[in-house]
Amino acid sequence: EKGGYEHFMLKEIYEQPQAIKDTYRGRLRADDGIIKMAGMEDHMEKFVHADRILIAACGTSWHAGLVAEYIFEDLTRTPVEVEYASEFRYRNPVITEKDVLIVISQSGETADTLAAIKLAREKGAFVFGVCNVVGSSIARESHAGAYTHAGPEIGVASTKAFTTQITVLTLMALKLAAAKGTISRTELQRYLTEMEAVPDKVEQCLQINEHVKYIASLYQEAPNCLYLGRGYNFPVALEGALKLKEISYIHAEGYPAAEMKHGPIALIDEQMPVVVIATRYGHYEKVVSNIQEIKSRKGKIIAVVMEGDTTVSEIADHVIEVPEITETLSPLITTIPLQLLSYHIAVMRGCNVDQPRNLAKSVTVE
Ligand code: M6R
Repeated sequence: EKGGYEHFMLKEIYEQPQAIKDTYRGRLRADDGIIKMAGMEDHMEKFVHADRILIAACGTSWHAGLVAEYIFEDLTRTPVEVEYASEFRYRNPVITEKDVLIVISQSGETADTLAAIKLAREKGAFVFGVCNVVGSSIARESHAGAYTHAGPEIGVASTKAFTTQITVLTLMALKLAAAKGTISRTELQRYLTEMEAVPDKVEQCLQINEHVKYIASLYQEAPNCLYLGRGYNFPVALEGALKLKEISYIHAEGYPAAEMKHGPIALIDEQMPVVVIATRYGHYEKVVSNIQEIKSRKGKIIAVVMEGDTTVSEIADHVIEVPEITETLSPLITTIPLQLLSYHIAVMRGCNVDQPRNLAKSVTVE
Protein backbone atom coordinates (compact mmCIF):
# COMPACT_ATOMS: atom_id res chain seq x y z
CA GLU A 1 0.00 0.00 0.00
CA LYS A 2 2.97 2.31 0.53
CA GLY A 3 4.14 1.41 -2.96
CA GLY A 4 7.62 0.42 -1.81
CA TYR A 5 8.16 3.61 0.20
CA GLU A 6 8.99 3.48 3.87
CA HIS A 7 6.24 5.94 4.78
CA PHE A 8 3.08 7.34 3.25
CA MET A 9 4.53 10.81 3.60
CA LEU A 10 7.49 9.96 1.36
CA LYS A 11 5.22 8.23 -1.13
CA GLU A 12 2.98 11.30 -1.23
CA ILE A 13 5.94 13.64 -1.66
CA TYR A 14 7.03 11.55 -4.64
CA GLU A 15 3.53 11.48 -6.07
CA GLN A 16 3.52 15.24 -6.54
CA PRO A 17 4.59 15.41 -10.21
CA GLN A 18 1.67 13.13 -11.09
CA ALA A 19 -0.74 14.74 -8.62
CA ILE A 20 -0.09 18.22 -10.00
CA LYS A 21 -0.56 16.88 -13.53
CA ASP A 22 -3.84 15.23 -12.51
CA THR A 23 -4.96 18.55 -11.05
CA TYR A 24 -4.53 20.57 -14.22
CA ARG A 25 -5.18 17.80 -16.75
CA GLY A 26 -8.49 18.28 -18.49
CA ARG A 27 -8.57 21.89 -17.29
CA LEU A 28 -5.64 23.49 -19.01
CA ARG A 29 -5.13 23.99 -22.74
CA ALA A 30 -1.94 25.95 -23.11
CA ASP A 31 -2.01 26.19 -26.94
CA ASP A 32 -5.23 28.14 -27.05
CA GLY A 33 -4.87 29.74 -23.64
CA ILE A 34 -7.98 28.09 -22.19
CA ILE A 35 -8.69 27.01 -18.62
CA LYS A 36 -11.81 24.92 -18.13
CA MET A 37 -13.28 24.97 -14.65
CA ALA A 38 -17.01 24.41 -14.68
CA GLY A 39 -17.45 25.44 -11.03
CA MET A 40 -16.03 28.86 -11.83
CA GLU A 41 -17.58 29.30 -15.26
CA ASP A 42 -21.08 28.84 -13.91
CA HIS A 43 -20.51 31.72 -11.47
CA MET A 44 -18.01 33.91 -13.29
CA GLU A 45 -20.10 37.03 -12.67
CA LYS A 46 -19.71 36.54 -8.92
CA PHE A 47 -15.94 36.41 -9.25
CA VAL A 48 -15.60 39.25 -11.75
CA HIS A 49 -17.80 41.62 -9.75
CA ALA A 50 -16.59 40.61 -6.29
CA ASP A 51 -15.53 43.52 -4.08
CA ARG A 52 -13.15 41.17 -2.30
CA ILE A 53 -12.12 37.58 -2.16
CA LEU A 54 -11.99 36.16 1.35
CA ILE A 55 -10.08 32.95 1.92
CA ALA A 56 -10.64 30.82 5.02
CA ALA A 57 -8.76 27.64 5.95
CA CYS A 58 -6.60 26.01 8.64
CA GLY A 59 -3.03 24.76 8.85
CA THR A 60 -1.35 23.89 5.59
CA SER A 61 -4.49 24.81 3.65
CA TRP A 62 -4.26 28.28 5.19
CA HIS A 63 -0.70 28.51 3.86
CA ALA A 64 -2.00 27.62 0.39
CA GLY A 65 -4.48 30.46 0.91
CA LEU A 66 -1.64 32.88 1.65
CA VAL A 67 0.13 31.87 -1.56
CA ALA A 68 -3.17 32.42 -3.36
CA GLU A 69 -3.44 35.92 -1.90
CA TYR A 70 -0.20 36.90 -3.64
CA ILE A 71 -1.26 35.27 -6.89
CA PHE A 72 -4.83 36.63 -6.99
CA GLU A 73 -3.91 40.19 -6.10
CA ASP A 74 -1.01 40.22 -8.51
CA LEU A 75 -2.89 38.78 -11.46
CA THR A 76 -6.51 39.83 -10.92
CA ARG A 77 -6.22 43.07 -8.88
CA THR A 78 -9.12 41.90 -6.70
CA PRO A 79 -8.37 42.53 -3.00
CA VAL A 80 -7.87 39.33 -1.03
CA GLU A 81 -8.01 38.64 2.70
CA VAL A 82 -6.85 35.36 4.15
CA GLU A 83 -8.26 34.23 7.46
CA TYR A 84 -7.78 31.41 9.90
CA ALA A 85 -11.22 29.80 9.77
CA SER A 86 -11.22 29.51 13.58
CA GLU A 87 -10.77 33.27 14.02
CA PHE A 88 -13.00 34.30 11.14
CA ARG A 89 -16.02 32.41 12.45
CA TYR A 90 -15.95 34.02 15.88
CA ARG A 91 -14.98 37.61 15.27
CA ASN A 92 -18.16 38.96 13.71
CA PRO A 93 -16.43 39.66 10.39
CA VAL A 94 -17.75 42.12 7.81
CA ILE A 95 -19.15 39.99 5.00
CA THR A 96 -21.43 41.22 2.22
CA GLU A 97 -23.24 39.79 -0.76
CA LYS A 98 -20.49 41.16 -2.96
CA ASP A 99 -17.85 39.00 -1.29
CA VAL A 100 -16.62 35.68 -2.57
CA LEU A 101 -15.36 33.28 0.08
CA ILE A 102 -12.93 30.61 -1.05
CA VAL A 103 -12.49 27.80 1.48
CA ILE A 104 -9.59 25.41 1.17
CA SER A 105 -9.54 21.97 2.79
CA GLN A 106 -7.88 18.68 1.96
CA SER A 107 -10.30 16.56 3.99
CA GLY A 108 -13.33 18.74 3.45
CA GLU A 109 -14.29 17.97 7.05
CA THR A 110 -12.46 20.58 9.14
CA ALA A 111 -14.98 21.90 11.68
CA ASP A 112 -13.83 25.54 11.74
CA THR A 113 -13.72 25.77 7.95
CA LEU A 114 -17.20 24.31 7.72
CA ALA A 115 -18.43 26.90 10.25
CA ALA A 116 -16.84 29.69 8.19
CA ILE A 117 -18.92 28.55 5.20
CA LYS A 118 -22.15 28.61 7.19
CA LEU A 119 -21.42 32.12 8.43
CA ALA A 120 -20.58 33.45 4.97
CA ARG A 121 -23.68 31.85 3.46
CA GLU A 122 -25.89 33.43 6.09
CA LYS A 123 -24.51 36.84 5.11
CA GLY A 124 -25.20 36.18 1.45
CA ALA A 125 -21.65 35.68 0.21
CA PHE A 126 -20.84 33.25 -2.58
CA VAL A 127 -18.80 30.28 -1.32
CA PHE A 128 -16.36 28.34 -3.47
CA GLY A 129 -14.72 25.19 -2.07
CA VAL A 130 -11.29 23.86 -2.97
CA CYS A 131 -11.26 20.32 -1.54
CA ASN A 132 -9.49 17.07 -2.14
CA VAL A 133 -12.00 14.58 -0.76
CA VAL A 134 -14.86 14.16 -3.21
CA GLY A 135 -18.31 14.50 -1.69
CA SER A 136 -16.93 15.79 1.63
CA SER A 137 -18.99 18.10 3.87
CA ILE A 138 -17.16 21.26 2.74
CA ALA A 139 -17.59 20.29 -0.92
CA ARG A 140 -21.31 19.80 -0.31
CA GLU A 141 -21.86 22.97 1.71
CA SER A 142 -20.16 25.25 -0.83
CA HIS A 143 -22.12 26.83 -3.68
CA ALA A 144 -19.56 25.61 -6.19
CA GLY A 145 -16.02 24.35 -6.16
CA ALA A 146 -13.04 22.65 -7.72
CA TYR A 147 -11.44 19.42 -6.57
CA THR A 148 -7.69 19.11 -6.28
CA HIS A 149 -7.57 15.50 -7.57
CA ALA A 150 -4.49 14.77 -5.48
CA GLY A 151 -5.67 11.24 -4.65
CA PRO A 152 -5.88 9.99 -1.06
CA GLU A 153 -3.46 11.65 1.34
CA ILE A 154 -2.79 9.31 4.27
CA GLY A 155 0.19 10.95 6.00
CA VAL A 156 -1.00 13.41 8.62
CA ALA A 157 1.51 15.96 7.32
CA SER A 158 0.02 17.50 4.24
CA THR A 159 2.29 17.44 1.17
CA LYS A 160 0.64 16.74 -2.18
CA ALA A 161 -2.58 18.34 -0.94
CA PHE A 162 -0.67 21.62 -0.54
CA THR A 163 0.92 21.68 -3.99
CA THR A 164 -2.31 20.64 -5.71
CA GLN A 165 -4.26 23.31 -3.81
CA ILE A 166 -1.79 25.90 -5.08
CA THR A 167 -2.21 24.48 -8.59
CA VAL A 168 -6.00 24.83 -8.50
CA LEU A 169 -5.84 28.30 -6.96
CA THR A 170 -3.34 29.43 -9.62
CA LEU A 171 -5.63 28.19 -12.39
CA MET A 172 -8.53 30.03 -10.75
CA ALA A 173 -6.53 33.26 -10.52
CA LEU A 174 -5.47 32.97 -14.15
CA LYS A 175 -9.04 32.29 -15.25
CA LEU A 176 -10.33 35.29 -13.35
CA ALA A 177 -7.49 37.47 -14.64
CA ALA A 178 -8.36 36.47 -18.20
CA ALA A 179 -12.05 37.26 -17.58
CA LYS A 180 -11.24 40.65 -16.02
CA GLY A 181 -8.66 41.45 -18.68
CA THR A 182 -5.97 42.12 -16.08
CA ILE A 183 -3.50 39.91 -17.95
CA SER A 184 -2.96 39.68 -21.68
CA ARG A 185 -3.57 36.60 -23.76
CA THR A 186 0.16 36.24 -24.30
CA GLU A 187 0.84 36.37 -20.58
CA LEU A 188 -1.87 33.80 -19.94
CA GLN A 189 -0.38 31.44 -22.49
CA ARG A 190 3.07 31.92 -20.99
CA TYR A 191 1.79 31.01 -17.51
CA LEU A 192 -0.04 27.96 -18.82
CA THR A 193 3.07 26.74 -20.63
CA GLU A 194 5.07 27.27 -17.44
CA MET A 195 2.43 25.35 -15.50
CA GLU A 196 2.82 22.38 -17.84
CA ALA A 197 6.53 22.36 -17.07
CA VAL A 198 5.96 22.16 -13.30
CA PRO A 199 5.68 18.34 -12.94
CA ASP A 200 9.11 17.82 -14.57
CA LYS A 201 10.61 20.50 -12.36
CA VAL A 202 9.15 18.88 -9.25
CA GLU A 203 10.66 15.61 -10.48
CA GLN A 204 14.04 17.36 -10.70
CA CYS A 205 13.66 18.54 -7.09
CA LEU A 206 13.01 14.96 -6.01
CA GLN A 207 16.29 13.92 -7.57
CA ILE A 208 18.23 15.98 -5.03
CA ASN A 209 16.77 13.89 -2.22
CA GLU A 210 20.15 12.42 -1.19
CA HIS A 211 21.71 15.87 -0.86
CA VAL A 212 18.78 17.06 1.26
CA LYS A 213 19.11 13.91 3.38
CA TYR A 214 22.76 14.74 3.96
CA ILE A 215 21.84 18.25 5.15
CA ALA A 216 19.16 16.69 7.38
CA SER A 217 21.80 14.50 9.01
CA LEU A 218 23.79 17.60 10.03
CA TYR A 219 20.86 19.35 11.68
CA GLN A 220 18.82 16.47 13.11
CA GLU A 221 19.75 17.46 16.68
CA ALA A 222 18.89 21.15 16.32
CA PRO A 223 16.50 22.34 19.05
CA ASN A 224 15.20 25.22 16.92
CA CYS A 225 15.03 26.22 13.28
CA LEU A 226 14.01 29.38 11.44
CA TYR A 227 12.50 29.55 7.95
CA LEU A 228 12.60 32.76 5.95
CA GLY A 229 11.15 33.80 2.63
CA ARG A 230 9.73 36.86 0.94
CA GLY A 231 6.84 37.52 -1.42
CA TYR A 232 5.38 34.35 -2.90
CA ASN A 233 7.84 32.36 -0.84
CA PHE A 234 6.94 33.82 2.54
CA PRO A 235 4.04 31.35 2.94
CA VAL A 236 6.41 28.58 1.83
CA ALA A 237 8.62 29.48 4.80
CA LEU A 238 5.60 29.15 7.11
CA GLU A 239 4.74 25.80 5.59
CA GLY A 240 8.36 24.57 5.88
CA ALA A 241 8.34 25.42 9.59
CA LEU A 242 4.97 23.76 10.19
CA LYS A 243 6.16 20.60 8.44
CA LEU A 244 9.28 20.41 10.60
CA LYS A 245 7.52 21.02 13.89
CA GLU A 246 4.61 18.68 13.34
CA ILE A 247 6.64 15.61 12.38
CA SER A 248 10.05 16.06 14.05
CA TYR A 249 8.95 18.02 17.16
CA ILE A 250 11.74 20.54 16.57
CA HIS A 251 10.62 24.05 17.39
CA ALA A 252 10.48 25.98 14.13
CA GLU A 253 9.20 29.39 13.08
CA GLY A 254 8.58 30.86 9.66
CA TYR A 255 8.97 34.59 9.03
CA PRO A 256 8.99 37.05 6.20
CA ALA A 257 12.77 37.58 5.89
CA ALA A 258 12.58 41.32 6.47
CA GLU A 259 10.86 40.84 9.84
CA MET A 260 14.09 39.41 11.26
CA LYS A 261 15.30 42.81 12.39
CA HIS A 262 12.11 43.37 14.32
CA GLY A 263 12.84 40.69 16.87
CA PRO A 264 13.75 37.17 15.75
CA ILE A 265 17.33 38.10 14.85
CA ALA A 266 18.00 38.11 18.61
CA LEU A 267 17.72 34.31 18.46
CA ILE A 268 20.57 33.88 15.99
CA ASP A 269 23.78 32.22 17.18
CA GLU A 270 25.96 29.39 15.89
CA GLN A 271 23.36 26.84 17.03
CA MET A 272 20.59 28.21 14.87
CA PRO A 273 19.93 26.74 11.43
CA VAL A 274 18.08 29.19 9.17
CA VAL A 275 16.42 27.89 6.03
CA VAL A 276 16.14 30.72 3.51
CA ILE A 277 14.26 30.61 0.24
CA ALA A 278 16.30 32.80 -2.07
CA THR A 279 14.91 32.49 -5.57
CA ARG A 280 16.41 34.78 -8.18
CA TYR A 281 13.33 36.90 -8.76
CA GLY A 282 11.20 38.93 -6.45
CA HIS A 283 13.34 40.38 -3.72
CA TYR A 284 16.59 38.61 -4.34
CA GLU A 285 19.02 41.40 -3.34
CA LYS A 286 17.06 42.04 -0.19
CA VAL A 287 17.12 38.37 0.74
CA VAL A 288 20.88 38.34 0.11
CA SER A 289 21.32 41.14 2.63
CA ASN A 290 19.05 39.30 5.11
CA ILE A 291 21.35 36.28 4.72
CA GLN A 292 24.42 38.43 5.32
CA GLU A 293 22.91 39.75 8.54
CA ILE A 294 22.39 36.19 9.77
CA LYS A 295 25.87 35.10 8.73
CA SER A 296 27.48 37.98 10.57
CA ARG A 297 25.76 36.65 13.72
CA LYS A 298 27.12 33.17 13.02
CA GLY A 299 23.78 31.56 12.08
CA LYS A 300 23.90 28.55 9.76
CA ILE A 301 22.27 29.13 6.39
CA ILE A 302 20.54 26.44 4.36
CA ALA A 303 19.54 28.24 1.18
CA VAL A 304 17.06 27.13 -1.45
CA VAL A 305 18.26 28.80 -4.65
CA MET A 306 17.63 28.57 -8.35
CA GLU A 307 19.98 26.70 -10.63
CA GLY A 308 23.13 28.59 -11.50
CA ASP A 309 22.93 30.93 -8.51
CA THR A 310 26.32 32.21 -7.46
CA THR A 311 25.73 35.07 -4.99
CA VAL A 312 23.87 33.16 -2.28
CA SER A 313 25.88 30.01 -2.95
CA GLU A 314 29.02 31.86 -1.87
CA ILE A 315 27.70 32.92 1.53
CA ALA A 316 25.36 30.06 2.49
CA ASP A 317 26.57 27.04 4.47
CA HIS A 318 24.48 24.70 2.36
CA VAL A 319 22.76 25.20 -0.95
CA ILE A 320 19.77 23.35 -2.37
CA GLU A 321 19.34 24.09 -6.07
CA VAL A 322 15.91 23.98 -7.65
CA PRO A 323 15.03 24.52 -11.33
CA GLU A 324 14.39 27.98 -12.68
CA ILE A 325 10.71 28.95 -12.72
CA THR A 326 8.63 32.10 -12.91
CA GLU A 327 8.18 33.66 -9.46
CA THR A 328 4.39 33.18 -9.47
CA LEU A 329 4.71 29.41 -9.71
CA SER A 330 7.85 29.09 -7.59
CA PRO A 331 6.07 27.93 -4.38
CA LEU A 332 5.23 24.68 -6.20
CA ILE A 333 8.95 24.03 -6.54
CA THR A 334 10.58 25.56 -3.44
CA THR A 335 8.22 23.60 -1.17
CA ILE A 336 9.57 20.23 -2.30
CA PRO A 337 13.05 20.31 -0.68
CA LEU A 338 11.51 21.64 2.55
CA GLN A 339 9.15 18.65 2.69
CA LEU A 340 12.09 16.29 2.14
CA LEU A 341 14.18 18.06 4.78
CA SER A 342 11.49 17.67 7.46
CA TYR A 343 10.83 14.10 6.44
CA HIS A 344 14.47 13.03 6.78
CA ILE A 345 15.02 14.88 10.03
CA ALA A 346 11.90 13.26 11.52
CA VAL A 347 12.96 9.78 10.40
CA MET A 348 16.48 10.30 11.79
CA ARG A 349 14.97 11.34 15.12
CA GLY A 350 12.91 8.16 15.20
CA CYS A 351 9.58 9.97 14.98
CA ASN A 352 6.39 8.45 13.66
CA VAL A 353 6.19 10.63 10.54
CA ASP A 354 2.87 9.35 9.25
CA GLN A 355 1.11 9.70 12.57
CA PRO A 356 2.76 12.37 14.67
CA ARG A 357 1.81 12.55 18.33
CA ASN A 358 -1.28 14.55 19.32
CA LEU A 359 -2.39 15.07 15.70
CA ALA A 360 -5.30 13.79 13.65
CA LYS A 361 -5.59 13.84 9.88
CA SER A 362 -8.74 15.86 9.98
CA VAL A 363 -9.83 18.10 12.80
CA THR A 364 -13.57 17.61 12.94
CA VAL A 365 -14.01 19.20 16.37
CA GLU A 366 -13.15 22.80 17.12
O1 M6R B 1 -8.22 18.91 5.78
P1 M6R B 1 -7.81 20.36 5.92
O2 M6R B 1 -7.01 20.81 4.76
O3 M6R B 1 -8.97 21.27 6.21
O4 M6R B 1 -6.87 20.37 7.19
C1 M6R B 1 -6.34 21.57 7.68
C2 M6R B 1 -5.22 21.30 8.66
O5 M6R B 1 -5.68 20.56 9.75
C3 M6R B 1 -4.06 20.56 8.02
O6 M6R B 1 -3.58 21.22 6.89
C4 M6R B 1 -2.91 20.38 9.01
O7 M6R B 1 -2.33 21.61 9.33
C5 M6R B 1 -1.86 19.40 8.47
N1 M6R B 1 -1.52 18.41 9.45
C6 M6R B 1 -0.59 20.05 8.07
O8 M6R B 1 0.37 19.17 7.61
